[in-house]
Amino acid sequence: MALDGSSPDEVLADLRELRVGDVDWRAGRAFSLTYLATPEALELSERAYAMFAGENALNVAAFPSLRRMQADVLGFVADLFHAPHGWAGFLTSGGTESLLMVCYAARRRRGEVGRPNIVLPTSAHAAFEKACAYFGTESRRVPVRNDWRADVAAMASAIDADTILLVGSAPQYPQGVVDPIAELGEVAAARNIPLHVDSCIGGMVLPFIDPFGSAEHPFDFTVAGVTSISVDLHKYGYAAKGSGVIVYRSRELRDHQTFVTDNWLGGLYGSSGVLGTKSGGPIASSWAMIRHFGRDGYADLARRTRATTLLLAEGISSIEPLFVMTKPDSTLICFGSGDESVPANAVADALRARGWWVDRQGPPATLHMTVSAHHEHVVADFIEALRLSVTDVRSRATAPGSTVGYGTVE
Ligand SMILES: Cc1ncc(COP(=O)(O)O)c(C=O)c1O
Repeated sequence: MALDGSSPDEVLADLRELRVGDVDWRAGRAFSLTYLATPEALELSERAYAMFAGENALNVAAFPSLRRMQADVLGFVADLFHAPHGWAGFLTSGGTESLLMVCYAARRRRGEVGRPNIVLPTSAHAAFEKACAYFGTESRRVPVRNDWRADVAAMASAIDADTILLVGSAPQYPQGVVDPIAELGEVAAARNIPLHVDSCIGGMVLPFIDPFGSAEHPFDFTVAGVTSISVDLHKYGYAAKGSGVIVYRSRELRDHQTFVTDNWLGGLYGSSGVLGTKSGGPIASSWAMIRHFGRDGYADLARRTRATTLLLAEGISSIEPLFVMTKPDSTLICFGSGDESVPANAVADALRARGWWVDRQGPPATLHMTVSAHHEHVVADFIEALRLSVTDVRSRATAPGSTVGYGTVE
C-alpha cells in the first residue's frame, strides 16, 4: 500500500484490508473501547458524524447549527443530573479532556496555594494523574475500602489547606462500583472544597437503574456538595468518539475553565477546553443519538444492558477457577482467576485468539468488561468462548499471558 496518489476506490479497498485484523466490535466481540446499542443507531451516528465532520466548533458564530446542537446536548445531560438553576457546562472531546479541565478549573479557582493537591480514591481514573502531571498538582490517592468504594473517612483525613478538589466516581472503572457520593458531598460542603463526580462511564446508565435512579442513592447534583459532573456521550450515549460533557453547578465555577487571550497578532482567542479546532462530527453524532433515543430509549438500553451484565457475571462465575470480583453496580464486570496455573492475562490472550477482546488491569491482576446493549445477543457465545479459553490455558500450561495495557503509547 504505497502512500501515493490512488483512486478513492483503491483507498477504500486498502482501508477495508487494514481493518481485517481488528477486533470485530460491530459483531459484539469487544468488551472494551467500543460501545454498540443497535446497528441502526450506529449507522445514524456515523451518518450524522460524516455530515458535520468538516465543520469547526472553534467558532460557532460561523456554524449556528453546532451552537444549537451543543446547547441541546448540554441541556439534556444537565436535566438528567438534576442540575440546579444557574448551571453551566461545556462539551469536550471525552473523559480525559473533561477531567483535565475540571482539575485545571479547580486550580485556577484557588489561585496561588502552596502545593495544590487533589484528594481521590485509588480507583479514580488514570486521567486524573495526567491532569496532575500537566498542571503541577499532587495526586493524593487514598486506598479504597474492601468493597472497592472510596473510603470517605480516610479521604477526609487526607485533606489539608492546599486541597483544591475532591473526586468520587459513579462508577469507578476498574471494579465498576459507585463511590458513596452523598457522604463525600457532606465532607466537601463542610470543608468548602469542590467535589467532582466522574460519571464518564456511568452517567448515561445510572440514572435509569435501581437504586441510583432514586432519591435513596443520589450521585448527582441532588447531593449539595457536588460541584461538577462529567459524562461521556461516546460511551453509553452511543455517540461517535470525541464526545464528553462537563456540567458545573454554577456559571462561576465554569468560568475558571475557559481560556481567553489576545496576546498574539491574531486577535481575541477564546476556547473552552484543550482543543482549538474541534470537529462538528462528534457534536452532530451526540445530538443525533439523543434525538434518536431520548430519555425513554436510554432507559430501555440501560435496563437491558444491566440485565445482560448480570447474566454475563453469572456465566463467568460458573466457570472454574474464575470469580467475579464484586457484584457490578452498573454495566462493568471485573473478574479474576483463583488458580495461578490459569492466569487472567493468559485467559485474555486465549479469548483474543478466539476473536474476543476484554481488558486486562491491576492491581490486582484481573480482567475487565464494559458491556453494551448489543451484547445481549452474544451472551451464550461469549461464555462458551470463555469456557474454552480456560481449557486452552489449562491444556497448554501457557506463559502468564501478555500484559497489554489499558492504553498504549504509540
Ligand atoms: C470513569 C472514567 N473516567 C474517565 C475515563 C476517560 O475517558 P476517555 O477514555 O474518553 O478519555 C474513563 C474511560 O473509560 C472512565 O471509565
